[in-house]
Amino acid sequence: MVADMTEANPRISKAVIPAAGLGTRFLPATKATPKEMLPVVDKPAIQYVVEEAAAAGLDDVLMITGRNKRPLEDHFDRNHELESALEKKGDGSKLAKVQESSDLATIHYVRQGDPKGLGHAVLCAAPHVGNEPFAVLLGDDLIDPRDPLLQRMVEVQEQHGGSVIALMEVAPEQIHLYGCAAVESTEAGDVVKVTGMVEKPDPADAPSNYAIIGRYVLAPQIFDVLRKTEPGRGGEIQLTDALQQLAADEKIGGPVHGVVFKGRRYDTGDRGDYLRAIVRLACEREDLGPDFRTWLRSFVAEEM
Ligand code: G1P
Repeated sequence: MVADMTEANPRISKAVIPAAGLGTRFLPATKATPKEMLPVVDKPAIQYVVEEAAAAGLDDVLMITGRNKRPLEDHFDRNHELESALEKKGDGSKLAKVQESSDLATIHYVRQGDPKGLGHAVLCAAPHVGNEPFAVLLGDDLIDPRDPLLQRMVEVQEQHGGSVIALMEVAPEQIHLYGCAAVESTEAGDVVKVTGMVEKPDPADAPSNYAIIGRYVLAPQIFDVLRKTEPGRGGEIQLTDALQQLAADEKIGGPVHGVVFKGRRYDTGDRGDYLRAIVRLACEREDLGPDFRTWLRSFVAEEM
């Protein structure tokens, strides 16, 4: 049973998924198809993220989209024509696959308009979220469903209030790719107190090797802070900079904690990691795995 839900810290039910990016790293595949729709084995990457939110009990999802993102809306909507064709054929298992994505959560959409950065994308969620803590899931980060992270973050938020970010230790030469957090330990082995944050630091200036990965549970006061946050790294309004304000002054929206994640994460925004995610997940699938592993073993033996 979760801690007492007071008005000051209501239960988290809303997830925000920024999905307005252009996906230029995957051109030409993303010329006419949103990057979120690229398949990881046989499901679009974005469906894993919505499934993760739903598994953590967040069944109100707001996607922040932009131009050319219509396929996302179609994917999470019913497709009556396809459903009745499969019904007529009596193909129950394919019918279930078609219906899966539309039954996962209630999904809302808002367009970002101007691409002014992640902080600005999150700010677009303010009217929908209102005055409650909420989760943010970045679509490029795929967290293996067997290593639940978001549930733990929701628990930690319910315990401490404020905001909770997800952290992962990375090699020092990788830290410039991420937001980086300065931390202090707490009594719980997997939870740290975050004392400061910096977006994509030069390795020499990084306060630690704790990288911020794309899962956040945020206090609603983040919106006020974001409204006043000036463009930062890359000329964009950075979520990390707004979180830094919260960490620097707990009176604004409570403390910032970090959950240190040691599970499996794939960065599907990176082409190499995207390929690794597909191979790993395919190997582990009951239906595809046995044949695929046999082929992969002989392929590797021939290639090496
Ligand atoms: C964003 C955040 C960064 C975080 C990263 C996680 O950066 O700004 O702090 O570490 O996501 O994937 P992006 O990768 O969108 O440039």
